[in-house]
Formats: sequence, C-alpha cells, structure tokens
Amino acid sequence: MSDLKNHFGDDASLDEEDTQNILNFLLENSAEKSTKEASVKVLNSIKNKDIIAITQTSFWKKEHKNIPKEIFKNSEVKTKANCSACHMDIEKGLIEDDKIKDINSFM
Ligand code: HEC
Repeated sequence: MSDLKNHFGDDASLDEEDTQNILNFLLENSAEKSTKEASVKVLNSIKNKDIIAITQTSFWKKEHKNIPKEIFKNSEVKTKANCSACHMDIEKGLIEDDKIKDINSFM
C-alpha cells in the first residue's frame, strides 16, 4: 500500500482517502486478526518469510498441488490469483469444500 505506483507492474495509485480506507480495511481484516481456519494456516505457513502473495505460501501450494498446471491457464481461470474462479463463496470470505467448483469443468 505504500508504493501503489509500482503495484505488480501497474500504477494503482489512489487518492489519499481511498488509500487510507483500503489500508484500514486490510489491517482490520488481516490474517493476524482472523480466527478463520484458512487464515491461521496461511499465517503459520508464512512464518517470517518475505511473502507477498498468498499463492506463494507453503499452505496454498500444498492445498493446490494436485491441480494440473494447465487448469490455471484455462480462459475462465487465467491465474492462480483468481480464487473466485473455483471458490464460489470466497467473496463472502468463505472457502467451504462444498463450494469448490469441479476442476474437471476447466479441462
Ligand atoms: C483452479 C481452481 C482453484 C483456484 C484458482 C484456487 N483454488 Fe483453492 N482450492 C481448489 C481446490 C480444487 C481445492 C481443494 C483441494 C483438495 O482438497 O485436494 C482448494 C483448496 C483451497 C483451500 C483449502 C480448503 C480447506 O477446506 O482446507 C484454501 C484455503 C484455498 N483453496 C484458497 C484459495 C485461494 C485464497 C485462492 C486464490 C489465491 C485459491 N484457493 C485459488 C481450487 C482452486
């Protein structure tokens, strides 16, 4: 958030108010403040490594290791970061097993 001009190759600069609102949201909803199972596991797998993407954590990699690489290149998925392509309730903060799409539908 402190260098939005260089945000993964994009200029994501925002005005001061939006920046502050998003920063507050991120701090209030960070894994450190959550009691959800996935948050705790993500946090434990980061330890003190310098990881900025959830998809680089050992927990995420372990959970997704059986998914063929081609699936993430499917036009509906596009990237590992597109969680909602497979996790139907993730925008509500939920990652329930019965709300994971059948990945065979992307083959
Ligand atoms: C291509 C589809 C796909 C994408 C994209 C994807 N996931 Fe998953 N995810 C799965 C599948 C399938 C499983 C279940 C794996 C298993 O049980 O073997 C899973 C499991 C998980 C789990 C463990 C669930 C549990 O009940 O223990 C978490 C947490 C998770 N994903 C988070 C994410 C996040 C966060 C993102 C985006 C950064 C993401 N996933 C992107 C398909 C996907």
